[in-house]
Amino acid sequence: MTLLDAATKVRDNAYAPYSRFKVGAALRSTAGHVHVGCNVENVAYPEGTCAEAGAIAAMIAAGDSRIAELVVIADSPAPVPPCGGCRQKIAEFAEPSVPVTLATTDGQSIRMTVADLLPGAFAPAHMDRA
Ligand code: THU
Repeated sequence: MTLLDAATKVRDNAYAPYSRFKVGAALRSTAGHVHVGCNVENVAYPEGTCAEAGAIAAMIAAGDSRIAELVVIADSPAPVPPCGGCRQKIAEFAEPSVPVTLATTDGQSIRMTVADLLPGAFAPAHMDRA
């Protein structure tokens, strides 16, 4: 199964009764394993979590640690970029050159990198004097 297929499939499980906007994410780790996530909303809106965060949590829970490639899919007029918080979460576990594909259910896609999504990312090296 491709990452796009995996993201499409997990999107069906998204819990999005408030926004009605289902998102699926699938990543391949550097170890070669696929981990998936979907958005999980909450009646207390800020407690909801994004699909990307779910996929990252699944990766860490599985004992895996680094992202080699990521795909995000939603039913939207144009490919949906990860939110600001997710960009920082992705950058924690991916090299700047890692490819990120943003896709729509009607077949559009944009390919970018982690560095494109979060230029000038705050990184561990910034704390070297701490
Ligand atoms: N959402 C994601 O899961 N990932 C994104 O990249 C953009 C937004 C979710 C959060 C919320 O459940 C819904 O989409 C609307 O913002």
